[in-house]
Amino acid sequence: MLALETSCDETAAAVIEGVACLRGSAVATQAAVHAVYGGVVPELASRQHLTNLRGVVNEALGQAGVGLSDIDVFGATTGPGLASALLVGSSAAKGFALALDKPFLALNHIEGHLLSPFFGADDIPECVGLVVSGGHTLLVDVAGAGRYRLLGRTLDDAAGEAFDKVAKLLGLGYPGGPRIEEEARSGDPARFDLPRSMKCSGDHDFSFSGLKTAVRYLLPETGSADRPDLCASFQEAVVDVLVHKAVRAARLARRRLIAVSGGVGLNLRLRERLQRAAAEEDLEVCFAASALCTDNAAMMAYVAAQQWRSGPSSGLDQDIFPALGADLFRAN
Ligand code: KG4
Ligand code: ZN
Repeated sequence: MLALETSCDETAAAVIEGVACLRGSAVATQAAVHAVYGGVVPELASRQHLTNLRGVVNEALGQAGVGLSDIDVFGATTGPGLASALLVGSSAAKGFALALDKPFLALNHIEGHLLSPFFGADDIPECVGLVVSGGHTLLVDVAGAGRYRLLGRTLDDAAGEAFDKVAKLLGLGYPGGPRIEEEARSGDPARFDLPRSMKCSGDHDFSFSGLKTAVRYLLPETGSADRPDLCASFQEAVVDVLVHKAVRAARLARRRLIAVSGGVGLNLRLRERLQRAAAEEDLEVCFAASALCTDNAAMMAYVAAQQWRSGPSSGLDQDIFPALGADLFRAN
């Protein structure tokens, strides 16, 4: 199978054999193009996808040692994501399928992240999935492959988006997550008392936009010497809420495992605190491998493989769906 991923600012292609054997995977990141703007510019993203797609497809096929005519199934992310970006990958995969008379699979980007901690495993274990990326923050109850129930989501900014916006406020560049984590290393997480929005809201939802605003209000009274403390305090506030709500969700859903995915899943403070909190409740935590945390096509190829085992192919008239729909969470 060949899977294409172009939902945001990574152009990616991967070739998988069965569910477990990744034969090739290539990612062209556009971070440098968007860095000047401190965030992703949709029209620039789609133009970059057009430029980069051929290269990543050829690289993934080359690594696998196969040609397009050896591919049995073509898949692509059809949502959620940026409309003009999704169109590039999905149109290409449909074009391949049509030209070579092979099936096409429409793939859900959130499912890609959600299953990425189990990449290569035959079956998906019961768990609560914490998806923390630049575009999404979700808690999902997972009963198995294709059996998902949305527990909660962010009502405004995603966790990664908050990292990116705060980094932009502090002049740290894009993507913000790694830069803030780096600054925070020498900072005092208790120095600034920042809000833990919705930590005790009694549901599984999140809100991070107030935290970003709170950092903005501190800017006039702080200087560059305070930056590590500000970053550490901000990071601590995000991690605090994520850890608290993920552990609570697992407890309430009666799952013994928390599976963390998405770019913010790379954050070491999150990893360390979640592991500690989970251990206190006798829960296990597993994280997606580092290369699978930020957007990639290998995770989408894994979804394609899982989907292909259990269901029919998608029609070539299957449209893109830019917004997070309810369809992924219908089945449970
Ligand atoms: O999963 P991803 O590619 O985003 C979407 O699919 O939307 O992850 C990118 C996000 C960015 O917001 C980036 O700032 C954040 O993940 N990120 C991090 C770290 N590394 C990347 N956030 C916190 N700490 C990190 N170490
Ligand atoms: Zn993503």
